[in-house]
Amino acid sequence: MTKPNLPGKVRIVEVGPRDGLQNEQATIPADVKVELIDRLTRAGFPNIEAASFVSPKWVPQMATSTEVMARIQRKPGVVYSALVPNIKGFEAALAARVDEVVIFGAASEAFSQKNINCSIAESIERFAEVARATKAHGLRLRGAVSCAFGCPYQGAVPAQAAADVVRRLRDIGCDEIDIADTIGVATPNMVVDVMEQVIRDFPVSQLSGHFHDTYGQALANIYASLECGITIYHSSVAGLGGCPYAKGATGNVATEDVLYLMQGLGIETGIDLDQVVEAGQFISAALGRKSTSRAGNAIAAKRAA
Ligand code: HMG
Ligand code: MG
Repeated sequence: MTKPNLPGKVRIVEVGPRDGLQNEQATIPADVKVELIDRLTRAGFPNIEAASFVSPKWVPQMATSTEVMARIQRKPGVVYSALVPNIKGFEAALAARVDEVVIFGAASEAFSQKNINCSIAESIERFAEVARATKAHGLRLRGAVSCAFGCPYQGAVPAQAAADVVRRLRDIGCDEIDIADTIGVATPNMVVDVMEQVIRDFPVSQLSGHFHDTYGQALANIYASLECGITIYHSSVAGLGGCPYAKGATGNVATEDVLYLMQGLGIETGIDLDQVVEAGQFISAALGRKSTSRAGNAIAAKRAA
């Protein structure tokens, strides 16, 4: 039985193939990325962030995005998303048959400059052009608000700053908006503070929580978001990841850990945890290191015993 104040069902967006892999130094072959995405598709994710059409000079690891999108085995109904910073990225994403375009802004001016080389106001102008093109082609549009709780360059970020970017992304037509803790510094009270503000301006059913786990607070932050009524969460298989423009930040919360939490709470996800554990072991072996998912490693160890 789900507790009455928690949702009965959530949507988990798997971001490992993009957020998880973008920061890897050694080039990961397209074969490995395709295999990972296909495994995640089979595990039952309704939405996979599969690629990023950004400048390969800025994020070299994502340079294989066109090839990866061409080779994955798509399951009907699954939404394959990709990051798009500008109209050039949009053209590439469109050609690659992306289902959902993700524009990514920030609540911090300093991070906006470091990550996409422009101010928040300039980014919204660029995104508005991408938004118009996305809608004209009948694709879904998602907006991310990075550094909603703290910034690696400017430090504290007021809750009002995230709320302001949410309104701007809403006004250019985003169907869904991610509240992102890029550097994993938030704690539950901060999360409630920001979520309560943004819910006033954007439907709660279309908001998502994107938590990195740098300070080990991600699951607590997800629980706090559940209590606020948020029903969409991003996570990364094996806890992969980090942002190239947020040094020291670790990966997203591990998908296996989130699924284990949801199972325990009686919240439906439609995803097969065992298959995700296998996908996590696969990508960890391919990268030559141990998964950082606590639940994933525990389940794999139990299986091997
Ligand atoms: P810029 O240097 O200001 O761009 O970068 P530009 O327009 O002057 O172009 C420079 C060069 O890049 C040109 O090539 C362009 O053609 C090329 P050159 O003439 O020098 O050969 N270029 C592109 N190539 C391919 N695809 C494109 C593209 N655009 C320009 N789309 C730009 C501006 C936005 C392009 C750059 O800053 C960029 O690509 N940034 C991306 C950074 C990034 O991907 N960061 C990680 C993702 S954000 C994140 O992880 C946070 C998130 O997970 C949420 C969270 O946790 O907070 C989403
Ligand atoms: Mg991220």
